[in-house]
Amino acid sequence: MIRSKILSTGMYVPPKILKNADLSAFMDTSDEWIKQRTGIEQRHWVEVGTTTSDLALEASLAAISNAGIKKEELDMIILATLSPDHEFPGTACFLQKKLQVPLIPALDVRQQCTGFIYGLSIADQFIRTGTYKKILVVGAEVHSAGLEKSTSGREVTVLFGDGAGAVVLGATEVTELKSDSYLYSTHLHADGTYAEELWTPSGTGMKEKDRMTIKQIENGAIWPKMNGKAVFVHAVKRMPEVLIEALEKNELKIEDIDLFVFHQANLRIIDMIAKQFNIPEEKIFNTIQKYANTTAATIPIGLDEAVRAGKLKKGMLVASAAFGSGFTWASAIYRW
Ligand code: ACO
Repeated sequence: MIRSKILSTGMYVPPKILKNADLSAFMDTSDEWIKQRTGIEQRHWVEVGTTTSDLALEASLAAISNAGIKKEELDMIILATLSPDHEFPGTACFLQKKLQVPLIPALDVRQQCTGFIYGLSIADQFIRTGTYKKILVVGAEVHSAGLEKSTSGREVTVLFGDGAGAVVLGATEVTELKSDSYLYSTHLHADGTYAEELWTPSGTGMKEKDRMTIKQIENGAIWPKMNGKAVFVHAVKRMPEVLIEALEKNELKIEDIDLFVFHQANLRIIDMIAKQFNIPEEKIFNTIQKYANTTAATIPIGLDEAVRAGKLKKGMLVASAAFGSGFTWASAIYRW
C-alpha cells in the first residue's frame, strides 16, 4: 500500500528578534499583557526587503538537505502562506525560481493558520494516487511587513512573527499499518460564514474602482482586523472537534498519541485543549514563546524543532491540529 511519509523537516527564522518590551517603542502595550494573554515572549521579524519566498527558500534547503535528496528529485512544490510576496503570481513560483527547480508544479495554499495541514493533505493525495513521489510542503510568512505598527493595531500586531518551516513528503510502501512510519490521515474544514472575523478588508475584488485606494490606506482597511474573542471561542471548539475526528478515523485514543504539535496561536488555546483531554505537558511541543504565531509555518517549525530537540523520534505517533482565519481548521495524524 502506497502512503506518504514525512522524510525530513527544515526551518528558518530571520535573525532579528523583538522582545515584547521592544514593541512598546511604537504602540501602547506591555510584556505583561502579551505574556499573560498569549504566552508570547518574543518574535523574529525580517529586515525590510526580505520576502516570504526568501524565508521559504532557507527552510526548503534545510528540509531537502535533511532528506538526503537532490532538489531535482522533487515532483512538486506546495507553499502555504497568508503573506505572499506579491498579489500574483503565487509565492510557490517565486520559491521555485529561487530553488532553481523549473517545470514541476508549484502551488500556493491560502488557508492561513491551517495552510500547512491543507498543503500536507493535498500532497498526500498526489502521493497516494502514485502521481508524485516527493513533494516539498512549506509554510512561510513575512507578517511584519503587513502589520499596523501603532496602538490601533496592537491586538493583532503583537501576536505575529516571521518564519518558515518545510517538510519533504515522500512515497513509502506501508506493510505494517500500526507500526510503519506514514501519514495516517488528514481532516480539513472551513466555514466562510466567519471570513470577516479575521481578515484584511482591502484588496482585490473590493467594491472600489481600483484594487487599492488612498481611502483604504487612510481608513486602515489595508491592515488585518481580528475579532479576537470570536477567534478564541471557535478555536477552542473546532480544534478539539477535529482532533477527535482524526482519532476516531484511526481508531485511536488520546493516550495513544506520543506528541502533539498544535498550531501556535495562543498558549491559552493550547492549555484549554490540554485540560479538556488531560494531555500531560510533556506531550505537547510549543514554540509560540520564541516565535509567536507564524501562521502557516508554526507546525513545520514545531516539527523541526522537536526533531532537533530529541523530542520527536522515529516510531512516535504524532497529532497536529490547527485553526485560523477563514475560518478554517484541520488535523493530521502521522507515525514518525
Ligand atoms: N497590549 C495591551 N492591551 C491590549 C493589547 C495589547 N497588545 N491588545 C488589546 N489590548 C486591550 C484591548 O484594547 C482591550 O482593552 P479594553 O478592555 O480597555 O477595551 C483589552 O486589552 C482586551 O483584553 P481582553 O478582553 O482580556 O483580551 P483577551 O483576553 O480577549 O485577549 C487576544 C485578546 C489575545 C487577542 C485573544 O482574544 C486571542 O488570543 N484570540 C485568538 C487570536 C488568535 O488565535 N488568532 C490567531 C488566528 S491567526 C490566523 O489564522 C492568521
